[in-house]
Amino acid sequence: MGRNSLKIGGVDSKSLAERYGTPVYVTDLGRVADRFEEAKAALTARYPDVLMAFAYKSNSTLQVVRALAGRGAGATIVSVAGVELARRAGVAPRDMVFDGPSKSKEELAAAITAGVGMINAESVQEARDVDALCRSLGVREVRIGFRVNFDIRAETHAGLATGGREHKFGVARSEVVQFCRREAQKLRSARVAGLHSHVGSQIADPEVFRRETEEMVSLAVELREYGTEVAELNLGGGLGFPYRKADKELSIGDYAEATAGSFARSRWSGRARLVFELGRWIVADSTVLLTRVNYVKPAGRVRWALVDAGMNDFIRPALYGAYHEIVPAWTSSAGRSAGRYDVAGPVCESTDVFGRGRRLGVRLSQGDLLAILDAGAYGSSMSSTYNMRPLTAVATVEDGKSALAAPRGASSE
Ligand code: LLP
Repeated sequence: MGRNSLKIGGVDSKSLAERYGTPVYVTDLGRVADRFEEAKAALTARYPDVLMAFAYKSNSTLQVVRALAGRGAGATIVSVAGVELARRAGVAPRDMVFDGPSKSKEELAAAITAGVGMINAESVQEARDVDALCRSLGVREVRIGFRVNFDIRAETHAGLATGGREHKFGVARSEVVQFCRREAQKLRSARVAGLHSHVGSQIADPEVFRRETEEMVSLAVELREYGTEVAELNLGGGLGFPYRKADKELSIGDYAEATAGSFARSRWSGRARLVFELGRWIVADSTVLLTRVNYVKPAGRVRWALVDAGMNDFIRPALYGAYHEIVPAWTSSAGRSAGRYDVAGPVCESTDVFGRGRRLGVRLSQGDLLAILDAGAYGSSMSSTYNMRPLTAVATVEDGKSALAAPRGASSE
């Protein structure tokens, strides 16, 4: 008899692995909905006019984004396929936000034609390009925002910081002011109606968000003098998730206080919609990656648990040294063990390791199942076919029932 048969959203891991094969992402849609509602309630309690434009890059599984759209979420997208996915999910174009530091003319044209509600420009040239494209496409008006680089440095992994002056993201505050003074009124079709800021991901310091909000308000107030009415302040995403129990955690209430709360108390007067592009916080703990042990192999002082998921399926540990809890999901024997395992995948790269020296509490054997936890954000959405491996399968669970969201080898959107 096996042990530790972990339940995911009320469904047994062993049966999920048998039904869908491994490796497989399993997403609890109820958890996604709960986190979304929690965030929405915290923000709207402090300021009522909020659009939660979920960051599709963090999780682009159709069933996930559809569940969010059904609860009123908009979409933050960074590609033409993202626009299409948001449309399929049921998001109205006016609730779509198109971001990205290097959009091609084709991408801009597609966003304009689709009627995306806000295109956030990351250079003044991009604003001019949007205006020119509108003319050639015969579109009368498009709302644009500027992603502003306020030179706010957040304490996070270097690969996840975006807010510093020298980063490739955003436009310097002074350039935005100059553009709005001299050029914005001359544009024929592009109307500067928004400001945007995103200073990085996996941030737990409320000061960063408070400063960002204050900077946005101060700039919006200044731009009024030059005839630019900011109708939308987009505070980006970036709220961190505690992957380790000991990680510093910023609660959703404190995050909402630093953002929507600061805005509500600010000297801003008039109407404005606040936009949030949270991704990670909404979906991180909705999903586990179920993987089967192919081999248990001693190598010197190390005991490897070689599993069937690889860095192509889940790249966060290899790319950022990210920590993810790993737990037994089902074991064939009831043997306990205090020993440690290094858990690694099949890809021919030494960085294809999910965790080192992990105490799993069990003695593993071939065929056992492990669950890599909190894999809902930047998990399946960053998977690839490296080593000519098929794209990972994705299943969802809801109300005690499971369904296939994306078969192995197919993109999950
Ligand atoms: N808005 C913009 C403009 C962004 O660039 C991002 C994420 C978000 C919103 C959503 O941020 P979130 O709330 O999810 O932190 N692959 C990395 C994370 C990269 C984040 C990229 N931008 C990881 O696995 O940690």
